[in-house]
Formats: sequence, structure tokens, C-alpha cells
Amino acid sequence: MSSPPSTEIDRPLGVAVLGSTGSIGRQAIDVLEGLPDRFRVVALATGRNATELGAQAARLRPAVVALGEEASGARLHLPFGTGRITGSDALTELATRADVDLVVVATGGIVSLGPVVAALAAGKVVATANKETLVAAGHLVMPLARDLAARVAVDRPGDPFASPLAWLRPIDSEHSAIWQCLVGESLSAVAALILTASGGPFLDGPADLAEVTREEALRHPTWSMGAKITIDSATLANKGLEVIEAHWLYDVDYDAIEVVIHPQSVIHSAVRFVDGSLKAQLGTPDMRLPIQYALTHPDRRPSPAAAVDLVAAGRLDFRAPDETRFPALRIARDAGLIGSRATATLIAADEVAVSRFLAGTLPFSGIPALLEAAVTRFGENGNQAPDLATLVALDAEVRAFAAGSPGAGS
Ligand SMILES: NC(=O)c1ccc[n+]([C@@H]2O[C@H](COP(=O)([O-])OP(=O)(O)OC[C@H]3O[C@@H](n4cnc5c(N)ncnc54)[C@H](OP(=O)(O)O)[C@@H]3O)[C@@H](O)[C@H]2O)c1
Repeated sequence: MSSPPSTEIDRPLGVAVLGSTGSIGRQAIDVLEGLPDRFRVVALATGRNATELGAQAARLRPAVVALGEEASGARLHLPFGTGRITGSDALTELATRADVDLVVVATGGIVSLGPVVAALAAGKVVATANKETLVAAGHLVMPLARDLAARVAVDRPGDPFASPLAWLRPIDSEHSAIWQCLVGESLSAVAALILTASGGPFLDGPADLAEVTREEALRHPTWSMGAKITIDSATLANKGLEVIEAHWLYDVDYDAIEVVIHPQSVIHSAVRFVDGSLKAQLGTPDMRLPIQYALTHPDRRPSPAAAVDLVAAGRLDFRAPDETRFPALRIARDAGLIGSRATATLIAADEVAVSRFLAGTLPFSGIPALLEAAVTRFGENGNQAPDLATLVALDAEVRAFAAGSPGAGS
């Protein structure tokens, strides 16, 4: 284990950004470029976008970059001094480099699962927007973060790095909000975690979601995000995945994780304590804020995100989610209660279901139907704490099923 990055920063921390060209990745770069005294980008990885990766490398001059395997032959213009690595282990290689202190995970799916496990095992700090890693493998990842924290706690019990959340830092705005609400609190005083959801574009209709179009589903009312997570927000599958993510991050039982629809997306989430007191975190819908909090924790620094104007916000509304119109929320919660085989099945099926919906080969209502069919078929039986190799094999098996399935119920 490398020694924990000190809160008394005496040199810029070395950062690897996995998925640097995506929605979160670009915003992470934006934040990192604004804090040159604290961070130095030493490694970048993306899937296919060689042009943007080359442009980022020209600006940031990292030591090394990697493109996903499918694009490994792509032409990539790099500045002098920046190397390129290829191969199926490239992300792990980047995430565990000696000059990397902190890994920002901004990829989708489980492509970064192995690299996250390796990075934590090597004593790196991981700041993750990617929820799939925790949803599929919370049982593998959280013990590593807890172990790192426990080792610090032996000598320095009050150190911020004596908490697992200092090692595995959530970027998802809801989980960042909960993290911020929990500062200075004990988990034993928590009565419930309250995840807020905008409700997506179909909150107020139509009653029948079978015929909604790709364009309608991509029109998120409050957040600007990548296509996959935008569709997940429209089905509420995203909130279901976040319930599972919260369960792992905060070690809270499912019956103490609530979801509340809050259309204005000003309250990013809240925690209710045993005395009935409720703490909430408010912010504008700008991911640069939770990204920066995860990077600079436990410090706060001025941010490029605008502050909330309560008077301009005017009113804040809340209502219960409708699990009949949005069954994906219930399906995800049920999968969480079954175990990690079921939740790994859920995310693999969801990724295929969403890409099929975007490609026009599955109706919107076919997404939850496909999730339920996949969890029933692959998720319910078997070891509910699968190892890494089993998870990767299961992911491939479920994807093949989901790609070929007519979409039960559609
Ligand atoms: N977007 C948001 O506001 C938001 C909010 C909360 C949580 N999240 C979560 O954050 C994660 C990323 O979301 P996103 O919206 O930023 O996704 P996105 O826009 O689709 O970006 C995904 C990134 O991963 C890269 N990538 C794909 N395959 C790769 C591979 N094999 N190796 C290295 N990089 C690879 C992509 O590169 P190419 O573009 O070059 O293919 C891209 O840079 C998801 O888990 C999502 O649920 C996102």
C-alpha cells in the first residue's frame, strides 16, 4: 500500500482519468485543469475517441494514454513525452502506476471493474462516477476500501483516510450529497438515506410509456448527461442502481434507503437521523461540483459550478415514485435484495436494453421487461458473491441473452 495522500498537500497529486472523453470525463478534466496546484494529470484512457484524446493529451501532457481495444489501431497524435499503451490490461496498468495517487473512473459498464480492484489493492484513491462497479461488485470493492481505512485508523484514528469513503469516493451527485450529509456523523445514527430523483421526462405523462420515442426519452428535464444514464433516468432504472450503490457505499440495509421524486433537482439527496432530524445537500445540477468534492475531500475549494439561488428556485416539490409506471425501480431493488449475481445481471441487461432502445429495436416498455426477464433467468440462482472472473463471464452471458431476446412483454 502506498502511503495515503496527505491532506497537507506538498506536491500535486498524480491523477489517472479513465473515460476522459465522456460526459463525466470532460467535466473531470475541466475541474482538474482549474486546480493545477493540487493535481497533475498523468494518465488518460478512452474508448474510441482518438481525436479528443489527442486534444486532451496536447493540453495536459500526461505521461501516458490508452485507447480501448476496439480502437487500438486508431491514429492518435500525441505530444512529445506522452507514451501510449495498448492491450486488455491497459486500464489496470494506468490505474496502478507509481506516479498515480488518484484514479477518476468515468467509464460506463464494468470495463473499469478490474482496474478499480487493482487500484484499491495498490493503495490508490478511487473517485468513481461509475455506479456499475459497485452495483456488480460492491462485495469485492468495499472490503478493499475498508481495509485501507482500517490500516490508517490503527495509527491515526481521526485522519480523514481512516474512512473507507476517503479511498472510494462517490462522484454520483446523490451519493456525494449523502457523503456530505454524513460528515461528522456516525452511521449508527442514520435512520434512512433519502435519494432524490428528478422523475425524468415522463414524470407527468404519458400514462402509457410503450410508445415514447428516443428523442422524448433523451430530453432530461434538469441534467445534461451521457445517453445511457439519461435513458436510465427516464425509466428510473438509474435510481434503482443508485439504491444498490448506496447500500454498498454506506453499508445501509435496503429497507432504510428511500427514493423521493423531486422534480427541481435542487436537493441532491438527504439523510434522516434517528432523532428525526433531516440533513440535505443542495446544489445546481452541475456534475463539476460532486466531481470536485471527490477530488479535494476533505477540503472545499471555489468551484466553476454556480451556487444555488434559493429565491430563484422558489419552491421545492416532492412526491412518491410511481413503481407501476416505472417498474425498473422495483426490479433493481429486488435484485439488490437477492445479491450481487442478480445486480450484475441487472446492469449487463440494462446496458443492452438501453442501446437497443436507442437503436430503435426495443420499445421503452421493453427495457424493464428485459431487466426482469434477465434477472429471473441469470440472477436468482447461484453464488451471490461472485468473483471477478465469474462477473466478467456472467456479463458476457447476460449481454448475449439481452441482445437476442425479443424483450419479454414488449
Ligand atoms: N453523465 C453524468 O452526468 C453522470 C452522472 C452520474 C453518474 N454517471 C456515471 O458515470 C459513468 C460515465 O457516464 P458518462 O455519462 O460520462 O458516459 P459517457 O459519456 O458514455 O462516457 C464514457 C467514457 O468511457 C470511455 N470508454 C468506453 N469504453 C472504454 C474502454 N474500453 N476503455 C476506456 N474508456 C472507455 C468512453 O470513451 P469514448 O467516448 O472514446 O468511446 C468515454 O470517455 C456511468 O457509469 C454513469 O452512470 C454519469
